[in-house]
Amino acid sequence: MAIGLFTNYQESNAQTKTFTVKANEVKASVPATLWGVFFEDINLGADGGIYAELVKNRSFEFDTPLMGWKLLQKGEETGSLLVNNWGELNGANSRFIRITSKTPTGNFGFSNEGFRGMGIKKGNQYDFSVLASQQEGAVSLVIELVNSKGEKLGSTTVTPAGKPWKKYNASFTATVTEPKAVLNIYVKGQGVVDLDMISLFPKDTWKNRPNGMRADLVQLLADMKPGFLRFPGGCIVEGRTLDERFQWKKTIGPVEDRGYLINRWNTEFKHRLTTDYYQSFGLGFYEYFQLAEDIGAEPLPILNCGMACQFNTAEVVPLESLDPYVQDALDLIEFANGSADTKWGKIRSEMGHPAPFNLKMMGVGNENWGEQYIDRLKIFTQAIKAKYPNIQLVNSSGTDPNGERFDYLNGELRKMNADIIDEHYYRAPQWFLDNAKRYDNYDRKGPKIFAGEYAAQSVAIASPDNKNNWQCALSEAAFMTGLERNADVVAMASYAPLFAHAEGWQWTPDMIWVDNLKSYGTPNYQVQKLFSTNKGTNVVPLLLNNETVTGQEGYYASAVLDKNKKEIILKVVNASDKTQDTDFVIDGLNKVAAKGTVTVLRSDQLDQVNSFENPTAISPVVKDITVKNKKVKVALQPYSVNVIKLKFS
Ligand code: AHR
Repeated sequence: MAIGLFTNYQESNAQTKTFTVKANEVKASVPATLWGVFFEDINLGADGGIYAELVKNRSFEFDTPLMGWKLLQKGEETGSLLVNNWGELNGANSRFIRITSKTPTGNFGFSNEGFRGMGIKKGNQYDFSVLASQQEGAVSLVIELVNSKGEKLGSTTVTPAGKPWKKYNASFTATVTEPKAVLNIYVKGQGVVDLDMISLFPKDTWKNRPNGMRADLVQLLADMKPGFLRFPGGCIVEGRTLDERFQWKKTIGPVEDRGYLINRWNTEFKHRLTTDYYQSFGLGFYEYFQLAEDIGAEPLPILNCGMACQFNTAEVVPLESLDPYVQDALDLIEFANGSADTKWGKIRSEMGHPAPFNLKMMGVGNENWGEQYIDRLKIFTQAIKAKYPNIQLVNSSGTDPNGERFDYLNGELRKMNADIIDEHYYRAPQWFLDNAKRYDNYDRKGPKIFAGEYAAQSVAIASPDNKNNWQCALSEAAFMTGLERNADVVAMASYAPLFAHAEGWQWTPDMIWVDNLKSYGTPNYQVQKLFSTNKGTNVVPLLLNNETVTGQEGYYASAVLDKNKKEIILKVVNASDKTQDTDFVIDGLNKVAAKGTVTVLRSDQLDQVNSFENPTAISPVVKDITVKNKKVKVALQPYSVNVIKLKFS
């Protein structure tokens, strides 16, 4: 009998259950890519999130050019600020500001509010930079970080000199920690100066890279040891309109030459309007590839297939005009893998990465559906496979794991011998329990599956009341035992979305929550990390009464060997509300070490969450366990996820 999370299992604890692990009957190799991460610029995931830039609208390219900026005038009017738009004469960033300072007092200036303020840490260095062109007279820019009371947290000065546009840099150390600082820039002296790309970064970015990422957030990803990094989405790949689709070529090269684009999530949910949400593309495709490499993940870019988001305009490009879209895909492969002699490989090399990024797979389309998708996908597939037969293509099976859209696409993609089918499921926790067997009967010889976006929804899909609670994480863990058991079919899986800013989110639940200074992994993160860091190399059967463990009396389980570390790793979920006494008998190994460990994630409360105040309320606890005659006894606690690890020889 399979039971749900809320079912009282009356007979539990009545007798010890004996599970058997057939360690010498390898069923599948575990793909190195099995557990990965899905990155989308949603919820201030990029700008205001992992991208460490502190200035919002640094280049005045938002639809409202001074959004995020404010004039500062102490006393009588002493200056003016004019937004200039020089169109193509000023490259991709057509706008800049012209400051005229009429009196030398330094009482006139302007300020930037950051992304819900700027997170500043005492003792950290901050690097200010600006592009400036001195037009008349002589002015200095006095840069100050202040808190809400106007108290100074650090300051520096830059003095532009000369008419040609030039980058000026100045660094200073913050004296106080402040989550919501504001950047003030006062103009001292009399004259006229043009300014653009006004930027402030902390020095302590990930690997101290300039134009870098927030180290605490990348660390959370690196700690998961993810097998792949999918980017940049998600629906932002598609855009609300074709004009607003994500175009990777606009996100590479010098940051001042990159474009700006309204973020599709800006006004997507009326109840979570985020009208200041734009993409600066400071975090662009080069940085995504670099991030994947840094955290040891295979890069998985997803490209627009000639269709805008079907939840929005559903625009399609005519088939006869699809060439530029297909060319973008071909050029991306060259950008990632081509030698420095190729057009796009040269750009990568000049950006600082002469070695290829070794791209092996690419997605064509995000959550696209219908005949119009298949028509376009066929053209992409033919062109990409003709030039790059070894690139594996990820194809969309639409928005849902079943229903008309899914059935049509699944049928068509299988007829096309698709490499990898991307399935998405945002469903209730019970769906995850009920679907622990989903892949047990999938065609072993057909396309591989990418569980590309999934998350249990505690209320309803994308409801603003959804919580990252233990009930959701527990049900995902139960489901993930089914992914692992079917690792011969399931090549990749990723929770979605990844990041959410506590004051700037549109979609919940999300795996990692951040504010301007802090971040924490949800219980769902802890589950993902536990599976990913205990991936193993080979799947072996774990059976109860000779059957796979997919909900009997609240148990869900799978097992892998790690042939390199000589470990056997069992993942066992007790979704019932009772402690259950269990024996695990390990068959098929000569010797199992007398001592092992069990790592437990659990809570008595299904509505328990992690939070900024209590970031580790649900976090792993490791205990020693004893093995006798290749048998290990464990009392599995109610509502628990357990990873049992034993050494063998
Ligand atoms: O993860 C949030 C959104 O859910 C993604 O952008 C989209 O692919 C899906 O509908």
